[in-house]
Amino acid sequence: PLPSAALNLDDIEGLARTVLTETAWAYYSSAGDDEFKYNVLIAYHRLNKVSHASPTTNILSFPSSLPIFVAPAALARLGHPGGEVNITRASAKEGIIQGISNNASCSIEEIVSAREEGQVLFFQLYMNRSRKASEELLRKVEKAGFNAIFLTVDAAVPGKRERDQRVKGDFAVRSPFYQTIWHPGPVLHAAVSLDEAPSDLKPLRFPKGALGWTSGPAVNGQDRAGNGVAQAISGYQDPDVCWADIPWIQDITKLPLIIKGIQCVEDAEKAYEHGVQGIVLSNHGGRQLDFSPAPITVLQELRERRPDLLDDKNFHVFVDGGVRRGTDVLKALCLGARGVGLGRPFLFANSLWGEEGVRRAVQIMREEIITGMQLLGVTSLDQLRPEMVKYVDRDPA
Ligand code: FNR
Repeated sequence: PLPSAALNLDDIEGLARTVLTETAWAYYSSAGDDEFKYNVLIAYHRLNKVSHASPTTNILSFPSSLPIFVAPAALARLGHPGGEVNITRASAKEGIIQGISNNASCSIEEIVSAREEGQVLFFQLYMNRSRKASEELLRKVEKAGFNAIFLTVDAAVPGKRERDQRVKGDFAVRSPFYQTIWHPGPVLHAAVSLDEAPSDLKPLRFPKGALGWTSGPAVNGQDRAGNGVAQAISGYQDPDVCWADIPWIQDITKLPLIIKGIQCVEDAEKAYEHGVQGIVLSNHGGRQLDFSPAPITVLQELRERRPDLLDDKNFHVFVDGGVRRGTDVLKALCLGARGVGLGRPFLFANSLWGEEGVRRAVQIMREEIITGMQLLGVTSLDQLRPEMVKYVDRDPA
């Protein structure tokens, strides 16, 4: 089917399932993704003139055509050989900001050379067990012109992800061009061509019929063989990353620093006190701790308890997880989010149709956001107010 056959993001997910390898589907989809499907209702006014509704905004002071951004997600090449670069090109054309994962499957150089003049890119960092490696990476991305650092703090260790673990397939074998590479250094190059791979990289081979990955350091004394993609690629991440690392990062880079993965009001307050530029309320798309609250409920609690943080012009609160509809985005903005991240929808769209598919996914969101604004009776995003969100049921349906 053509991208135009997809009318909504769930259509894209359903179609992607039919083209992805078992490994890719399991890795992308593992854990629940319905975090936003809670009872958040919207109260609104009629009889406002709404023919010219504009969804443009600023995200961290960078202009964006929509209040959404590409959440950093690993291994876009698992679904399409063009990988993250497809998403970079699509983001430029659609005028949205892309977050690049520390575990991206395209190199920083590839992404930077695909970037359009002035295109805004955020870099997502996982703290490396080697601080020197993290320092080098921070310097490298600042020099490469990235516009902000998102430090992800909800992945001290990877979540259990049984679906991912059960699949013993091998995307290196299924894809003739790419091979997974393990590199304990500053950047993980996953799924790069073996010919391009520097000789000091240790290939993470996954031979046909093998029961597990063959590399990656032990976690809690256990080796990671057979534990799926997530475990295999995360060995360098430091479980001991802590608040004291925040000033360390701030010393190294002048880029705005956003802490991604905050899940309670107290941590939001701590982040604010540490002088970072913002936070992402996120449970990593439900991939980490089970029973983690839906980020929109954390946002609502923040609205109730610390509205001053949400209203501080210099502190930016973002949210992600299960956002599939324009109305999901609008509800979060009403509560005070400055932007909303989407992860899986872009991976799925990329897997199906590459750059064109990612553009289609953004266009679907654009249409839904504009229609939602018009039906809400607003013509610009700054007219959205907390009072418009009527009720949040905190218990999962
Ligand atoms: C992620 N996410 C993620 N986050 C991050 O900070 N670094 C990463 O490398 C990844 N990798 C990753 C891989 C895959 C396959 C998924 C689905 C997600 C989390 C991501 O940034 C975001 O928080 C969620 O994807 C948001 O939820 P939805 O939109 O996917 O429901």
